[in-house]
Amino acid sequence: MALTILKGTVISAPALGKLDVTERGYLIAEEGKITGVFPVLPEQYAGAAVEDCGDALILQAPADLHLHAPQYPMMGMGMDLPLLDWLNTYAFPTEARFADPDYAREVYRRLAQDLIANGTTRVCMFSSLHRRATLILMEELEKAGVTGYVGKVNMDRNGAPNLQETTEESVAETLRWLEECGDFRHVRPMVTPRFTPSCTNELMAFLGRLAAERDLPVQSHLSENTAEGAWVRELHPDCAQYWETYAKYGLWNGRTVMAHCVWCDERERRAMKDAGVTAVHCPDSNQNICSGVAPVRVLLREGVKVALGTDVAGGDTLSMLDAAASAIRASKARRVMDSWKTDFLSAVEAWYLAASAGAAFFGQQPGFAQGNSLHALVLDDSRLLQPHPLTPEERLERCLYVRQPGAVRAVWSAGRKVFSAED
Ligand code: GUN
Ligand code: FE
Repeated sequence: MALTILKGTVISAPALGKLDVTERGYLIAEEGKITGVFPVLPEQYAGAAVEDCGDALILQAPADLHLHAPQYPMMGMGMDLPLLDWLNTYAFPTEARFADPDYAREVYRRLAQDLIANGTTRVCMFSSLHRRATLILMEELEKAGVTGYVGKVNMDRNGAPNLQETTEESVAETLRWLEECGDFRHVRPMVTPRFTPSCTNELMAFLGRLAAERDLPVQSHLSENTAEGAWVRELHPDCAQYWETYAKYGLWNGRTVMAHCVWCDERERRAMKDAGVTAVHCPDSNQNICSGVAPVRVLLREGVKVALGTDVAGGDTLSMLDAAASAIRASKARRVMDSWKTDFLSAVEAWYLAASAGAAFFGQQPGFAQGNSLHALVLDDSRLLQPHPLTPEERLERCLYVRQPGAVRAVWSAGRKVFSAED
């Protein structure tokens, strides 16, 4: 791992709406940490091995800040129902199968490999409520080179007969899971109340204390769907808004990611900004299960941290390139809904959300900043026809919009080469 030098068209997103491009440039990392991007090879590296990627694009590997591992087998299925019915009819029965460790092993090995083959090297991921399957998931991610956070899901109410814990079970299994996942280096635990309707107040209070005591990050769902929002208000008559049901129990801070945020109003958005909560925009899922169109531009304008997620299997693709294109489309739908008063996202902005904004949750600086852990992706777009010679910006835009099987040629994660299309 000591020294990595990649040569090609190096593209990174150092700020929202900004792109750094170095054609025929060198991306250099030492001991897995980025030294810099250079237009010519610095003298001290003369004679060192260079991985020449030719004319291919060298991009930051994206981060998927919200997806459900046990829903991977049902990806692209059962999109005919809105969220709450969809959970009961499709998601819960699918997740219940992960009581079987052999099944979990088979699915999670595939998922981990497929994530890497799509270039995704960082995740915030929901497992199911099963402790053993969650450990298997973490093991398979670590082995494949996927880094980030995984949560054993907590759900002690409103589940299904074969997919629900008692409060005591949820507490005991969560503690045991935390003990047993001590050895993983790149995949770490995350406190995961499924969403407010799935957790009793007692369980929420335990999870909040746990996150504080062990300094753990938190993930859940927020204001995804109108029926869900109404249900949350019924369950918590003391809370004026959905976010307060998390804040009340200490599950609302700068290490919290909240998926969706489709229906957050100004006050809820302000609470996100003030606490430093990251909103994870999942545009594919929001369309597929009729949740709505998240006000992504308004969230950004108001200073809320925003990243992207696939929300598989509400989402129908693991590709964060697809997710970025979907975010652009969603922002255009939103623009129409907002009487043309909000701007849509540019391709460069969407790519910032998929790559730099996601990496920020893991303590990284935007772009290929010096000192960042090397997470990179080599994308070969040479099979596409060109109407005229393209700029690197145009090439990036096309790589978001156009699905190109086999275009991901190589992937580095945490400094290590974890995928090569040649293998
Ligand atoms: N809210 C609670 N659970 C889920 C889930 O599995 N998927 C989505 N999209 N929303 C949820
Ligand atoms: Fe989700």
